[in-house]
Amino acid sequence: MSALYDRIGTGYSATRRTEPRIEALIRDALGDARSVINVGAGAGAYEPADREVLAVEPSATMIAQRRRGSAPAVQARAESLPLPDQSFDAALAVNTLHHWTDLRAGLRELRRVARKRIVIFMRHPPSGAPFWLTEDYLPSLDPSRKYSAIFDAIREELPSVEALRFPMPRDCADGLFVAYWGRPEMYLDGEVRRNISNFALADEGGLAEGLARLRADLASGEWDRKYGELRRLESLDLGHRVLVAELA
Ligand SMILES: C[S@@+](CC[C@H](N)C(=O)[O-])C[C@H]1O[C@@H](n2cnc3c(N)ncnc32)[C@H](O)[C@@H]1O
Repeated sequence: MSALYDRIGTGYSATRRTEPRIEALIRDALGDARSVINVGAGAGAYEPADREVLAVEPSATMIAQRRRGSAPAVQARAESLPLPDQSFDAALAVNTLHHWTDLRAGLRELRRVARKRIVIFMRHPPSGAPFWLTEDYLPSLDPSRKYSAIFDAIREELPSVEALRFPMPRDCADGLFVAYWGRPEMYLDGEVRRNISNFALADEGGLAEGLARLRADLASGEWDRKYGELRRLESLDLGHRVLVAELA
């Protein structure tokens, strides 16, 4: 099975480490679930160690980065889970829905295999503060429209869903797209960008102008004149949410 992350996932674990505050929120959201299917599991960053977990992941490159002793992994896609109905207490999907080729089919599969609840971690930009990187430097990377459509589909497929806020900490260990909102120099690092799909899927040539402007504004102090107060904030709500859908 060829998968996007076979191409862009090499070296993923170098900058995409488990963020303990996201992990804690997910653990709470999973509640009393004893068994969990983690769909789009990647290298296993947010799998609870104290429950029975099965990881589902299409990319062999990502599966190869799973730590020794982590939960067993099946190579498959969300849209067609090779598992019986209601075979897990909870289904978990972290930072993955934006990659699914048939989102609604994937959501229906989560609902089919889960008995008690579905837990999703994702970003919904309109719920959070504007992000200076896409506002001022790289508007072509703004995922707002795509993520809003995903959010709307979740509300339709899982009407009982509730959203818990996750203000992004300034020192977030998981180098996801908005993780460096208060550490702008990090976006100039090619390794950081390689492990963020918004960047990895974009044409680097097309990003050059915006990145060059960011570099110049950091050197001249312009970025700090405009946004310097961000360096003193502990966290910023950029729209990340833990979504919990209780199943009847
Ligand atoms: C940003 S990574 C997140 C990985 C992991 N959940 C984490 O938080 O570290 C997105 C993952 O979704 C996987 N993915 C892509 N398309 C998928 C699909 N159709 N079904 C399930 N997973 C998919 C990718 O292979 C990749 O491992």
